[in-house]
Formats: sequence, structure tokens, C-alpha cells
Amino acid sequence: MKKEIILTGDRPTGPLHLGHYVGSLANRVELQKSCTQFVMIADVQALTDNFDNPKKIHDNVVEVVCDYLAVGIDPKMTTIFLQSMISAIPELTLYYMNLVTVARLSRNPTVKAEIKQKGMEESLPVGFFTYPINQAADITAFKATLVPVGEDQLPMIEQTNEIVRSFNRLYKKDVLVEAKALVPKVGRLSGIDGQAKMSKSLNNAIYLGDSQDDIAKKVRSMYTDPKHLRVEDPGSVEGNPVFEYLDAFGMDTEKIAELKAHYQRGGLGDMVVKKYLIEVLEHVFRPIGERRKVYAQDPGQVMGILLEGTKNAQAVAQDTLDQVQKVMYLDYVLEQ
Ligand code: TRP
Repeated sequence: MKKEIILTGDRPTGPLHLGHYVGSLANRVELQKSCTQFVMIADVQALTDNFDNPKKIHDNVVEVVCDYLAVGIDPKMTTIFLQSMISAIPELTLYYMNLVTVARLSRNPTVKAEIKQKGMEESLPVGFFTYPINQAADITAFKATLVPVGEDQLPMIEQTNEIVRSFNRLYKKDVLVEAKALVPKVGRLSGIDGQAKMSKSLNNAIYLGDSQDDIAKKVRSMYTDPKHLRVEDPGSVEGNPVFEYLDAFGMDTEKIAELKAHYQRGGLGDMVVKKYLIEVLEHVFRPIGERRKVYAQDPGQVMGILLEGTKNAQAVAQDTLDQVQKVMYLDYVLEQ
């Protein structure tokens, strides 16, 4: 069987947190063993809604690479690269723009939701509106066959595949490759405040770069069952992020099942469960935090790894661009 080619990435708008870990980072560490994996720092895409704050995006590039390296995404197995240095991507984007209607883009549910959420209805930048086309260029430049993404990104893959089919049909050659989405089973993690999503903007995240003390403090402040007032009271484990995190990160399923049963019948205090969660998180994230600290002290080395991967990615994307230009009768060359 042919090896799957994976392209995935993150907008560098802030350091990564435990939600990213369960949603994508842990998967990437596994997938790199069996697939050809590209992981992209999507700084150009991040600018589509942060064009007024380019320094923030710049400063988070190295942070996100530190997160990748700390969790075990291995540059020997995975090509980690920077989107803004791959000039084939905006070139492909421009060609694909001919194949997508404004009406089709307007129906993209992910972009629609984001426009609403960001209050951009009245002054929608073209760059933001069209970012799904840019994302199709990211994916197709690497001929990705598999794109591991959260549920919210499924419309992007659908839009990408429509572009692939239009392109191949119009230019009468199967240059581009369709991609399958791979949605992880445990896709999202609640915030420490019990809101449905851990996110930087909701200020309810535990970061991979947090110290053990910070993590313990955050866990002690976590939302639990608000009806569980006294230790004797029966408590609910549903919608209780402390138990959700135990399920996500704990190994001792027997002990976790016991704690749940005890909590539900009453007599188990929140602090006892939180103390155990602190231990569980320390077991998983102390080594990650320690590795991260070492990388963060040497940003030169980290940028070196990113640029090395970018060089490799550039060659792959350029090869696709050459094939695209050839079937579009755009294969001009300058005499040296
Ligand atoms: N849109 C993705 C996000 O917000 C990031 C991203 C950019 C991406 N290009 C991609 C993801 C290509 C997968 C494939 O998380």
C-alpha cells in the first residue's frame, strides 16, 4: 500500500494548549511513524484575521515550533515548515480562485461562522473571505491524501476536493490529488472553566509551556459540578471537566472508574479528585514541559529546524506548481 501523505497545520496566534494536544498533537506523533507528514505553521493564514498585528504572529512562530518539538513531533520524521516562505502556495491560490465562485465561498459554513463570530459582516476583507482557497493550495501543493483536522475544518476539505476535481477536469490531467479528512475520536477538550472549548481567547487554557505550579493552580481553580456543595453530596461526572481530563490523560482506567463511582454516590471531595488530576497531568506534561524549556532557551536552533524543513517543503510545492503551470500553458522559462 502506498504511504499516505499528511498535510496539517496551525495558525500561530498563541502557544499551544492541552486542547491542541488531544485534538491533534498526540495524533501527529503517532502518524509520523507510518506516513509522510508535513506540518505547517500557517502564518499567512493567521494574518488573514491578524493583519493589524503581524508582530504577534511572528513571535508565536517559534513558540509553536517549540510546542511541536516538545511533544515529540520529530523533524527527522516530519517536515515542519513555514507557510510564508512557500511562494508556490499563493501562486496556486491565485489559479484556484478562477475555479471557485463567490456564492460557493459564501456558503462555506466554517468561514460563515467565523465572520459572524469576529463581527466582520460589514467589512469583510477579501483575504479572509478567500482563505479556504489558500488552504486548498496548502493541501494540494503537497498532494496530501490525508488531512487530520477537527470537525470544524471538514468544509475546508470538501472545498479543496471540489477545486481538485474542477482543476483536473478542466486541464485534462490528474495533476492534483483529492484528500480525505481524518477526524480524531477525542476531538476537543473543555476549558478549565467548563466551557465547551479550551481556547486562548476564552482564557480557560492550560498551556504546554505552563510550569507544574501553574498547572496545579489552574487545576485547583477548575470548574466542577456546581451542585456538589458538600463532600457527602452526590456529584455529577458528566460535563465535569476534571473527570473529562482524567479520561483524556489518565492511564489507570480502573482507578478512574472507582473515583467516578465514588463521586457519583457522594463522599468524595473535589480537592481529592483534583489532586489526582494534578498527578496525572504531571506524569504526561512534566517531560514535555522540560523539553520545551530546553528548546525555548535556544530559539536559533528551533528556527534552524523550521528553515531546514521549509527548504524541503519548498521543493515539494515547487514541483506541484511546475506541473500545474504546465497543464495551464504557463510553463515559461527565462534563458539564463
Ligand atoms: N485552518 C487551520 C486552523 O485554523 C490551519 C490550517 C491552515 C490547516 N492550512 C491548513 C489545517 C491545511 C490543515 C490543512 O486550525
